[in-house]
Amino acid sequence: MTITTHANPLVQKAFGAPKSELHIHIEGSLEPELIFALAQRNNVKLAYESIEALRAAYAFTDLQSFLDIYYAGASVLLHEQDFYDMTMAYCERALADNVVHAEIFFDPQTHTERGVSIDTVVAGIDRALADAEKRGLTSKLILCFLRHLSEADALATWDAALPLFERYPRMIGVGLDSSERGHPPSKFERVFEQARAKGLKLVAHAGEEGPPAYIYEALDLLKVDRVDHGVRSIEDPALVTRLADSRVALTVCPLSNTKLCVFDDMTQHTLKQLLDHGVAVTINSDDPAYFGGYVNENYSAIVEALKLDDKEVYTLLRNGFEASFVTPVERAALVAKLDQYWTQDGSSAVA
Ligand code: HPA
Ligand code: ZN
Repeated sequence: MTITTHANPLVQKAFGAPKSELHIHIEGSLEPELIFALAQRNNVKLAYESIEALRAAYAFTDLQSFLDIYYAGASVLLHEQDFYDMTMAYCERALADNVVHAEIFFDPQTHTERGVSIDTVVAGIDRALADAEKRGLTSKLILCFLRHLSEADALATWDAALPLFERYPRMIGVGLDSSERGHPPSKFERVFEQARAKGLKLVAHAGEEGPPAYIYEALDLLKVDRVDHGVRSIEDPALVTRLADSRVALTVCPLSNTKLCVFDDMTQHTLKQLLDHGVAVTINSDDPAYFGGYVNENYSAIVEALKLDDKEVYTLLRNGFEASFVTPVERAALVAKLDQYWTQDGSSAVA
């Protein structure tokens, strides 16, 4: 149970609720302290003199300004134990926020281009997730392709990853991340087609900085099961209606959106409008070590800024379980756990 307390009773209630996290880049959970510890352990030279100097550089103006520092931070990851330590540190924080199910992204190309094998990456992450599972955190892994790299690079990564999808049942899907502008989903239609043919789950970042047209491409060309971010859908009423009707969920990351200047401040966030239109919005942390908070801090920031009510917070929590890639039986158990907590007597808060 979390020890975090908050003066707002609804935020406090959300903090204690069993919840999911469906949009977390594991490399984005690397805290500056761990970056420096791993740099020392692995003899990697960093461009920053101290933990404070690194943290001071976390003043982002857009997605690219963040990605440059995020990839530099990941350069300290070399050995299986490094990936284990990073992942276990995230799991500890997630457990403290009462996350009971996490679907975690990783970026193999960030590591393979430095000579680290994809086997090393997945072995370390999966071993930590198996250990965390014994402590009440279930999880899935989603392999993301870096969209600023070529289609050929993504296809080669797919080929290298194929045996791992067999070996690690936790690896259930593929995603698409990194620099969005100028790299539309259509660039990766063929590799997503191959993943779909294998029966994998499909997600893609779209409509974070990119236009609604990229969300249409993610839906129509990549045939994604969820859209990561997707906040710019609000600019296109027909798209909002389509998302609401289809219940294709958006994995929204409020602190990320304000830190990367997608919105000027949290009161400008369009999450409540999307909810009001019936879109299946979920709350997530994206890159918590870089954006000033883990999932509970994302709940507190958005609940306070948009003055969300009890029913809206319940809906966000519930959407997080409804949109997860678990079996129907597992989903029912997760929702029952939430209902038990939210209403005390176990009846659904919205029905
Ligand atoms: N957007 C795109 N790529 C990313 C992000 C993000 O928010 N975080 C890590 N890779
Ligand atoms: Zn992301």
